[in-house]
Amino acid sequence: MGYAYKIEGGSKLSGIVEVGGAKNSALPILAATLLAKGRFDLENVPNLKDIHSMIELLAHFGLEIHWENPNHLVIINPGLTGIEAPYNLVKKMRASFLVMGPILASERHSRVSLPGGCAIGARPVDYHLKGFEKLGAKIVIEHGYVEAKADKLVGTKIILDFPSVGATENIMMASTLAEGTTILENAAREPEIEDLANFLNAMGAKIIGAGSSTIVIEGVDHLHGAKHRVINDRIQAGTFIIASILQGGSIIVKGAVREHIEKFYEVLEKMGVVFTEIDEELHIEADLKNLKPVNIKTMPHPGYPTDLQSQIMILMAMVNGESTVAETVFENRFMHVPELERLGAHIHIEGHTAFIKGGVEKFSATEVMASDLRAGASLVLAGIMAEGETLVRRIYHIDRGYDKFEEKLTKLGAKITRVRLEDEV
Ligand code: UD1
Repeated sequence: MGYAYKIEGGSKLSGIVEVGGAKNSALPILAATLLAKGRFDLENVPNLKDIHSMIELLAHFGLEIHWENPNHLVIINPGLTGIEAPYNLVKKMRASFLVMGPILASERHSRVSLPGGCAIGARPVDYHLKGFEKLGAKIVIEHGYVEAKADKLVGTKIILDFPSVGATENIMMASTLAEGTTILENAAREPEIEDLANFLNAMGAKIIGAGSSTIVIEGVDHLHGAKHRVINDRIQAGTFIIASILQGGSIIVKGAVREHIEKFYEVLEKMGVVFTEIDEELHIEADLKNLKPVNIKTMPHPGYPTDLQSQIMILMAMVNGESTVAETVFENRFMHVPELERLGAHIHIEGHTAFIKGGVEKFSATEVMASDLRAGASLVLAGIMAEGETLVRRIYHIDRGYDKFEEKLTKLGAKITRVRLEDEV
């Protein structure tokens, strides 16, 4: 028994939509509260499934957590009661692996279940582990668990093979309590990394350079409680910006931060979209019929984000001319393509590139299935632009990362309802 979205396409959307807090910032920040005893006040935390999974994991280690207000989370760390993150908690979400660095740093010993497979690629954790090893930890992988032990962690130079977001976060957290200075090179530069570093610094860490390719972490003896406001969700902002363009610009997006997705804005401007920011409100001018096709390539930040790849594909399918999407971050992130084809899009894939033949005036409603979180959101956008009734299955993916998605869309005028299905997972 599970849920699906039933969408009656064709409604005109308009109004203001507000962007919530970033899931991908909040998750590592929550994990970082394992580093020190004390009270943590976190604001702008989205209330969604992945956050609940992380809360459950923190509670497993003895942390006390409650919502003070709808988006204000209070976490009290009275000292960890264990060092092991079991499979049943880790398997729900890959980002659970982010507890490994903080526990290793605070307890000098941690044991975390391997996260397992994922629909959008193998997504191993080898870069994380290489980093811990460089800091002096001994790593043993057996029985599906990674165990890391160290008498002490010692700062050193670590060069990442690839600017992995998770590895940068995990290694940065582990280094905060190491002896001496860690220099992390080829680090990921995503805004979420900077947000985590700001939080760690508020806890007493000494980190400079986060947001650039070289991060310098001077180890400290201890960390303490802190207050922090999580940045807004740039992927959610991007999703609503696409929704607005599809509607000819009638949706105003509040709380989008251009610098966090500069490349995304540039691509849309190249297509012919005009953005005007008034205070915190983003006004969008776009005429679907006159937008130009475009070629994009997903890259680590500041490149075009892979998490906004499936959403722009909906736009590409409707704009006249041929567009392309080259996916370089994940090896298997075109699982939404067959679903889009079922809705009437013309796309073919060669290797890591999708060729999208545009010009669809209206998608043709049908039953489709979300394959991951962002793909799910793009199917909803297509459903809104379809003629007839679309059923989007497996929306547990969407629930993982979009706070009040149907509520926000309904407020804008979409006809979208959550339905319970006997045969849904
Ligand atoms: C994070 C985001 C996710 C986003 C992704 C890329 C969170 C919670 N999730 O995921 O939404 O799509 O960044 O922007 O912030 N890799 C390895 N070995 C490793 C680590 C990664 O080979 O040890 C590979 C992965 O398989 C993938 C690539 O590196 O192909 C990028 O992964 P990474 O940047 O680590 O993404 P996540 O942190 O998992």
